[in-house]
Amino acid sequence: MTAYLNGKFMPIAEAKISPLDRGFLFADGAYEVIPVYGRYGFRQEEHMRRFQVSLDGIRLPNPHTPDEWRALIKQIIANAPFEDQQLYIQVTRGADVKRDAAFPKGVAPTVFMFTAPMVKPSAEMRANGVACVTTPDIRWGRCDLKTVALLANSQARQVSVDAGCTETIMIRDGYLTEGSASNVIIVKDGVVLAPTKDNRILPGITYDVVFELANKHGVPNQQRPITEAELFDADEIWVTSSTKEILPVTTLNGKPVGKGDAAGKVGPVAQKLHKAYVDFRDALVAASKNA
Ligand code: PDD
Repeated sequence: MTAYLNGKFMPIAEAKISPLDRGFLFADGAYEVIPVYGRYGFRQEEHMRRFQVSLDGIRLPNPHTPDEWRALIKQIIANAPFEDQQLYIQVTRGADVKRDAAFPKGVAPTVFMFTAPMVKPSAEMRANGVACVTTPDIRWGRCDLKTVALLANSQARQVSVDAGCTETIMIRDGYLTEGSASNVIIVKDGVVLAPTKDNRILPGITYDVVFELANKHGVPNQQRPITEAELFDADEIWVTSSTKEILPVTTLNGKPVGKGDAAGKVGPVAQKLHKAYVDFRDALVAASKNA
């Protein structure tokens, strides 16, 4: 794996930080995960804009300008020995000489990136859909910021690992929020529905692409609060993220999603929009080669 730490590119094994780093002590940092296809960062500008929003949200000055980030990202993608990558970017408030929750003064932030081969859902998962389970959403009030404070997400994710499932879908006060590391979108009577983007969910880059494509292809859609009952009554459920893209959920809490003949099968709207997604992505990758 190829890494970058505070101004230097290096193999990941050589990247070392202080145990006083505030990322380690206080989860005081923000991050992004950018999917890279054929060395092209898909929706990179949108990811970096969201990164700025996350940094602003925790009052952590961005150590680099957009152009500096573009150059660093270009370099790490070029350095990696693989074409399809998942690029991880993290900035923390750095390492002070003491442990104090208040923001330190004059401490340089820690800037870290690494890129790894992209882990994609298998063909079997795409063809048959995946199983998910639900759990209460116990996270803090700023789930719209992509911070490294992921303990509750990790606890939620383990619930599905323990159940032999792919993702955990979280419910807060009777409403659907999102997955442990994904957004959740449902289909009811042909309408694509997802929870409104507010402080309870991460504004997913993939989520936005899904709604753009739904509009482009004339698929009715709406963003509004979704009750737990609507989730369980959905015709289709998808989890979306930069690495999962649009992944159909065909079993929820051990029961098939959908009704009648369609129950437990990948639905038509998922098929249509995933194809649109792949075509859109591939066209951008191809255009980047000719640029
Ligand atoms: N996670 N919600 C949460 C809590 C997430 O962690 C993610 C992504 C998403 C989907 O966002 P996007 O479409 O921009 O990837 C929603 C990344 C992939 C991760 O933490 O690994």
